[in-house]
Amino acid sequence: MKITELSLPKNVIQFYMDSGITEIYPPQADAIRRGLLDGKNIVAAIPTASGKTLLAEFAMLKSVLNGGKAIYIVPLRALASEKYDRFSQFASLGIETGISTGDFDSKDEWLGKYDIIVATSEKVDSLLRNKASWMYDITVIVADEIHLINSPDRGPTLEITLAKLMKLNPKAQILALSATIGNASELAKWLDAELVQSDWRPVELREGVLFGKAIKFMDGGKEVDATNEDDAIALSVDTIREGGQCLIFANTRKNSESMAREVGKAIQDLIDPDDDNKLAELAGEIRETGETSLCEKLASCIENGAAFHHAGLLGGHRRIIENGYRSNVIKVIACTPTLAAGLNLPARRVVIRDYRRYDANFGLTPIPVLEIKQMCGRAGRPGLDPYGESVLIAKSLDEFDMLMENYVLANPEDIWSKLGVETTLRTHLLSTIATGFAQSREQLFDFIESTFYACQQERWSLEHVVDAVLEFLEKEGMIIRSGDDIHATELGELVSRLYIDPVSASIIIKGLKSVDDATTFTLLHLICQTPDVRKLYLRSNDGSWVNELVERHRDEFICVPDPYEKEYEWFLAEAKTAMLFYDWICEEHENDIIKKFGIGPGDIRALCELAEWLMHSTAELSALLGLRFTQDARDLVEQIKYGASPELLKLIKIKDVGRVRARRLYNAGYTDIAKLRDANPKAIMRLVGTRIGIKIMRQLGVDVEATDRKTGQANLLEF
Ligand SMILES: Nc1ncnc2c1ncn2[C@@H]1O[C@H](COP(=O)(O)OP(=O)(O)OP(=O)(O)O)[C@@H](O)[C@H]1O
Ligand SMILES: [Mg+2]
Repeated sequence: MKITELSLPKNVIQFYMDSGITEIYPPQADAIRRGLLDGKNIVAAIPTASGKTLLAEFAMLKSVLNGGKAIYIVPLRALASEKYDRFSQFASLGIETGISTGDFDSKDEWLGKYDIIVATSEKVDSLLRNKASWMYDITVIVADEIHLINSPDRGPTLEITLAKLMKLNPKAQILALSATIGNASELAKWLDAELVQSDWRPVELREGVLFGKAIKFMDGGKEVDATNEDDAIALSVDTIREGGQCLIFANTRKNSESMAREVGKAIQDLIDPDDDNKLAELAGEIRETGETSLCEKLASCIENGAAFHHAGLLGGHRRIIENGYRSNVIKVIACTPTLAAGLNLPARRVVIRDYRRYDANFGLTPIPVLEIKQMCGRAGRPGLDPYGESVLIAKSLDEFDMLMENYVLANPEDIWSKLGVETTLRTHLLSTIATGFAQSREQLFDFIESTFYACQQERWSLEHVVDAVLEFLEKEGMIIRSGDDIHATELGELVSRLYIDPVSASIIIKGLKSVDDATTFTLLHLICQTPDVRKLYLRSNDGSWVNELVERHRDEFICVPDPYEKEYEWFLAEAKTAMLFYDWICEEHENDIIKKFGIGPGDIRALCELAEWLMHSTAELSALLGLRFTQDARDLVEQIKYGASPELLKLIKIKDVGRVRARRLYNAGYTDIAKLRDANPKAIMRLVGTRIGIKIMRQLGVDVEATDRKTGQANLLEF
């Protein structure tokens, strides 16, 4: 089917022709035949790289150019930025795209001015809880990577969000995009959608298993033309010699780091000199924007042409790596599943080094077929590579047979709703009541009837869980029941808007009410007691220093359990986590924090984001209940955000300053913005480096060149 045959506005057709898309792929044509352009709901469960985004684009453009509004829901921030960049190209059609992945308890009314809004499912859930008015204007709802519903921690949010959006906008068109799954027809039934299924892929993807020196595919074999003790390295060298790029999936962060280091050594001689310079530039960027040993490790891998990519890295560094790889400067990335879903990357070959990963309950466990297929699907993307290969590695003949049968030849699993768990329902039921989606027990069940859960399970299986949750919410003063009616109290509404677990709210309130005084450490430890803050593990050598810490702060804890009680171990983990935040705001060096707590810089940021949000919630709860900790908690929010003491907060808000540079400036006497503005730019550059110094001074309105001329000194820009 030609693009010119589609019932789309002329300028849209021209837009695609100009970008080289003239024919539509067979599964895309199937979706059109089934009513994609007539407003029909569609579930597209078609292979990776088969162009699912284009289906969403067609439906969104058609509706938006008619005055509608579209929301595009994604599971990951990296995917959100990729889609945002893509949809921003529609600006030439007069269509504005917005992105929102950030703060949870805001309405973000400003987002309403956009025609297409890209957001994570958590963000959309929070916008619904905060009753953003533009939510009622949505005409197209896209759920990308909808198989995420299967995830125990994030699936229910996506499921509830979709159910609410459908209720709010019953006429909106729904598109659910998914890789191949076992039970796509159940999804289609839930969403009242047409099902598009196919195994057609625009670029051939050969899936195989390596054993010894050869890869065995379904339709033949291939010798690997490189040798190395480590098969994944041999496969990478072989790919680069063939002119391609390689993506290696490892099962732990440490493994991805050592992989990148070793691959780097093996490929450095294969990199051409032009790229060597570009790699040095990328490594320089990493060093300039991170000062930990992990950043140094990353920079030296990148110098050799390989990088590692995992959630312990800073978000900005992950972007540098993704872009460096997209522009074919970085040749190999060794990653954890951070890059498994939805991204368009130029990987000629995907290597899956481990088919198992560690699970806290079950030890080393095989990775589901659905996830492995997602990883494989990063190889062979249209416009980026002429073909793709994905390779699992077998260490024995038995393992070879098993990998062939259980992965290469296997079909992905069915997906299951994970909604029926008390911890999950607690927060979602409260928000369903607080936002007016249900005002009686019966209406709650009607609402549950509209979820995917109800398509898979009987209503009675949830009754006792729902009743237990309602009882809890009533006891905590978050809802009131009279007769059949249920409504949220002011407290219940606040907890729903804050987007925290009702149990977290209850712990915070009880804690605040039980003390007369609260130090910084008291408040930090209090938020660490909530289920919303992920606790750091207690490692075997942590015992003694954490115990010492408990002694030092003994009077500041709201309650210290008996060391012989079984919850004591848990308490120590909370104390250790609180100490991380304490060290962070006391400006301990990031490298020392990383060593002491055994985490990466990206983890510090992710944990601090959680702490900031819970501390903000503490301030709001304290304010609502008229308690005395509101201001203390508000001050701490800022400190956690920037990782600094209060005296630095003004300086730190200048872009590019950060906690380390702010301290250097402050200690040198530049204690506020006015003093900094009056300073000699050269002195500032000496403290923070030339490039950053110039950037800072320019932001403050200082004409750096004029100062230069006035003093007759050598050009500052060459300083
Ligand atoms: N009809 C077409 N002609 C040419 N290129 C196309 C066409 N449709 C899509 N593409 C291109 O194919 C690439 C892959 O598309 P897309 O990212 O939508 O895949 P996907 O099906 O969502 O895969 P995944 O399951 O991995 O998310 C994109 O670069 C897109 O521009
Ligand atoms: Mg996709």
